[in-house]
Amino acid sequence: MRLGVAALLVAVCVCRVQQCVCFPNGSVAFSCGSMAPSHPPYTASTSSPPFTLSTSSATYRPGGVITVTVEVKNSSTEFQGFLLQARSRKGSEEVWPVGSFTNISRSLFTALHCNNMQNSTVSQASGVKKKKVQVMWEAPSNSNYRDVYFSATLVQDYTTFWVQMKSRTMTLDSSSAAGVRFMYLLMC
Ligand SMILES: *[C@@H]1O[C@H](CO)[C@@H](O)[C@H](O)[C@H]1NC(C)=O
Ligand SMILES: *[C@@H]1O[C@H](CO)[C@@H](O)[C@H](O)[C@H]1NC(C)=O
Ligand SMILES: *[C@@H]1O[C@H](CO)[C@@H](O)[C@H](O)[C@H]1NC(C)=O
Ligand SMILES: *[C@@H]1O[C@H](CO)[C@@H](O)[C@H](O)[C@H]1NC(C)=O
Repeated sequence: MRLGVAALLVAVCVCRVQQCVCFPNGSVAFSCGSMAPSHPPYTASTSSPPFTLSTSSATYRPGGVITVTVEVKNSSTEFQGFLLQARSRKGSEEVWPVGSFTNISRSLFTALHCNNMQNSTVSQASGVKKKKVQVMWEAPSNSNYRDVYFSATLVQDYTTFWVQMKSRTMTLDSSSAAGVRFMYLLMC
């Protein structure tokens, strides 16, 4: 009898702990445009982010696939949540989202449809602590965007997060199109 009560107590405590460490699954946690998590009363950290945001290439081709990696700088750092999206610029205006993520593992990520564009943004599937995430991004099939970069929000915990950290800028590689133009010049 006493054992039963103790077991029940343990079960309740475990559930409570899980509720505490439970982290929003991504579908509702962020705003698509500002990329800010809603964690009142806390605001984004202004210190240098302890993460790197890298791309597999400095250029991209229309319809091409780029691997994007978010990783902690120090292996003793971990993060619980993130939001990742490709963006471009049109003058001073930021254009988002650009392209979409592909081959998204549903067990690891949540695909978001920002601005009604399917899989244009990814976030975590759960609050499991991570040191690294890697996703594949497919560029738009047209050449409407020149420079594209990734913007990421990283959530270490409820109180500490970095918003809109930028990757390097990838330039559009239209060399195949240039090659065709060159051949056309030669032929004419
Ligand atoms: C995320 O959580 C919300 C509410 O907690 C739920 O309605 C939604 O289905 C979840 N989404 C995923 C992809 O698990
Ligand atoms: C990594 O973080 C740990 C704990 O915060 C710290 O003691 C250590 O000096 C850090 N290492 C580097 C290389 O920054
Ligand atoms: C898709 O992702 C799985 C793992 O999630 C990986 O094994 C597979 O190679 C990926 N496919 C491509 C085309 O990269
Ligand atoms: C979006 O990603 C999901 C996997 O999370 C996939 O099943 C679906 O086909 C993708 N949609 C598009 C339009 O790529």
